[in-house]
Amino acid sequence: EKGNHRHFMEKEIYEQPEVVSHTLAHYVDFTAGKVRNIAPDLNFSAIDSIKIAACGTAFYAGQIGKYWLERYARLPVEIDVASEFRYREMPLPGNQAALFVSQSGETADTLASLRYCKEHGLKIGAIVNVRESTIAREADVVFPTLAGPEIGVASTKAFTCQLATFAALAIAAGRARGTLIADEEANMVRALSEAPRIASSVLNTIQPQLENLSRELSRYRNVLYLGRGTNYTLAMEGALKLKEISYIHAEGYAAGELKHGPIALIDENMPVIVIAPYDRHYEKTMSNMQEVAARGGRIIFVTDENGAAAATLDTMATITLPNVDELMMPLIFTLPIQLIAYHTAVFMGTDVDQPRNLAKSVTVE
Ligand code: M6R
Repeated sequence: EKGNHRHFMEKEIYEQPEVVSHTLAHYVDFTAGKVRNIAPDLNFSAIDSIKIAACGTAFYAGQIGKYWLERYARLPVEIDVASEFRYREMPLPGNQAALFVSQSGETADTLASLRYCKEHGLKIGAIVNVRESTIAREADVVFPTLAGPEIGVASTKAFTCQLATFAALAIAAGRARGTLIADEEANMVRALSEAPRIASSVLNTIQPQLENLSRELSRYRNVLYLGRGTNYTLAMEGALKLKEISYIHAEGYAAGELKHGPIALIDENMPVIVIAPYDRHYEKTMSNMQEVAARGGRIIFVTDENGAAAATLDTMATITLPNVDELMMPLIFTLPIQLIAYHTAVFMGTDVDQPRNLAKSVTVE
């Protein structure tokens, strides 16, 4: 039940510290400072690459997983939305594995993609939330997310649990492939162990700011989200959340793509949500923000303490999160992004848990 919350979505957003912690505990031995031996059957050291397919928010989790697997395990990853993946008739050499990501485990296109890879003899891993689902049954190796039942149509806690699972997988793969040494693994594990506590303090403090901002946002018809690296993925995830529950048109772009087209849209009626912690992309994203400001665009800046201190531009709002380890950033930065969509939808008066035209589980093409 919803408890003190107005909607399941709100309840599920606030459950994230707890369910992410459960999911991490399943994969990580915090005392030993190591990820458990979670994927012996996927044999990360013997494969040359991985294919990932998923839909919607699960696809965005897969995209962040790709960045992590490539960066930490030097494992090339090709990812596609499942509705394209299943029909591309791609060659599938045997030295690969395939991973499918799905909250429900019943999404038709994701299941068809899994079957395509299975027919071609690939080893199949599945990150799923529903243990008894078809995708879980048909996979060779199941990586459960321990999010508990997700009722809100907009996926929130399943997403962060998928991220936690991918972080563990990337570390396991890095260890198997010899690209992470024990010290690096211990540091990454320590960072992950702090994520639930930091998530909970963020959730307990940012709400008032986000409510004011969301009241403002609900007056606009279009919103653009920008980011680089894993925050590019969060930009797209944020735009998906906002459009599906508030019906405001939103798009997420790689900040570097701004001048290749979307900058033409910028004026005072197009708020731009820029997700930019103080990481190796910060300076580049700052100059994109300047381009937006110079054209009268209104900026909502989602950053960390270091990023806020280094910023020089006027913004419509600045949401400041704590400075956190890079591996943990997507887990933390997705929280204000979810809450902005949630509160904006509440101000618009939409049916947050059951938005029009959408179903929780898409079992037909
Ligand atoms: O059950 P699945 O994870 O396979 O579902 C995939 C998408 O349908 C789902 O993430 C959808 O995009 C959500 N409504 C996003 O909030």
